[in-house]
Amino acid sequence: MLRTTARTALTASRRTIGLRAATPSLAAVVRTKSTWADVKQGPPDAILGITEAFKKDSFDQKINLGVGAYRDDQGKPYVLPSVKKAEKLIVEKNLDKEYAGITGVPAFTSAAAELAYGANSAPILENRVAITQTISGTGALRVGGAFLERFYPGSKKILLPTPSWANHAAVFRDSGLTPEQYTYYDKESISLNFEGMLNDIESAPNGTIVVLHACAHNPTGVDPTPEQWRKISEVMMKKGHFPFFDMAYQGFASGDTAKDAYAVRYFVEQGHQVALCQSFAKNMGLYGERVGAFSLVCESPEEKARVDSQLKILIRPIYSNPPIHGARIAAEILNNPELKQQWLEEVKGMADRMISMRHLLKKNLEELGSKHDWSHVTSQIGMFCFTGLKPEQVDRLAQEFSVYGTRDGRISISGITSANVKRLAEAIHEVSK
Ligand code: LMR
Repeated sequence: MLRTTARTALTASRRTIGLRAATPSLAAVVRTKSTWADVKQGPPDAILGITEAFKKDSFDQKINLGVGAYRDDQGKPYVLPSVKKAEKLIVEKNLDKEYAGITGVPAFTSAAAELAYGANSAPILENRVAITQTISGTGALRVGGAFLERFYPGSKKILLPTPSWANHAAVFRDSGLTPEQYTYYDKESISLNFEGMLNDIESAPNGTIVVLHACAHNPTGVDPTPEQWRKISEVMMKKGHFPFFDMAYQGFASGDTAKDAYAVRYFVEQGHQVALCQSFAKNMGLYGERVGAFSLVCESPEEKARVDSQLKILIRPIYSNPPIHGARIAAEILNNPELKQQWLEEVKGMADRMISMRHLLKKNLEELGSKHDWSHVTSQIGMFCFTGLKPEQVDRLAQEFSVYGTRDGRISISGITSANVKRLAEAIHEVSK
């Protein structure tokens, strides 16, 4: 029908012009407007959009404090020596490039689970951790969100801290869950509003899914203390809530992978059946390799087998199976005791550099005579500092000083170097006067 109408229109238009004109394409005649004419321009990504703006800036002393990607003291991307060594060992093995299984490279997933839960933890020893390799931490969140949407027996509401990583709500919404918020950060005191957090978690309906940043909370850099974690665990246990941990920075917060896994391990010891998302982007510097894992602590090996089977069914239609190269690197590091030791030292080196940049930034701000209390710069941990700067002040930083951070006032400490910290402090001082 459509074809006949189109042909008639074509013949009519030829007749009208009375020429043997080049035949217009059928599609051009049928279509009155472009297929994508109603697609609206979207806003740039809150975090990755900053990198785009930074790249467009031609000033040679520009500073990128937007995306959380580690830089060395020369401001250069850092490929860990342990990663280089692992890569060399892999190349020497002359491995094939066959598909991994749907849940990834087994030598990687088993080592990732041990790193998170502890090699001697009950769920590892009892073989009841269902785990899959994922497309880094974001992929883990997405697979986890989709699994919960499909199988979680309670409400599909998921509570996020306020604020949370800028991508969390979108990931969970697109997974079919309904993100809501709980109190976390207190703007006035620039610290954790623990009472508010606990109240919100306690007053949520029984069995609510609650997202917890395992360490180095993104974007605030404010974590609960071990004692506060114990209290959170107790309240969540009493309410039958489900803990969904996002651990994107294991090792990055304190320089110690076991210490940074404290919350996850404590919850598991208390009998919580946690969900856990892991990323090896930051702690191994494997950003573009997209190495991550999603796991669920199950009650028994038999339950684990059922959950594993459903993870496969869920993943197969999305991306079939994950890439192998990055996972092989992580597996080589984690399963080779010598290389693992070297990596742990390198993780500590990165964490220490960030801690020293925090101190240097605070010192420079104080030396400039800033009237503000900058103690939060050193009390917060991990990759980010939640400066307390307002969006307009962040805009000024970019426009007047070519210093780029996210508009919520978050700056990535890893973009600070011994060479640019003075200029950064001057810029922050100027916009915060
Ligand atoms: C960040 O928060 O900057 C990182 O987690 C990178 C990202 O993907 O947003």
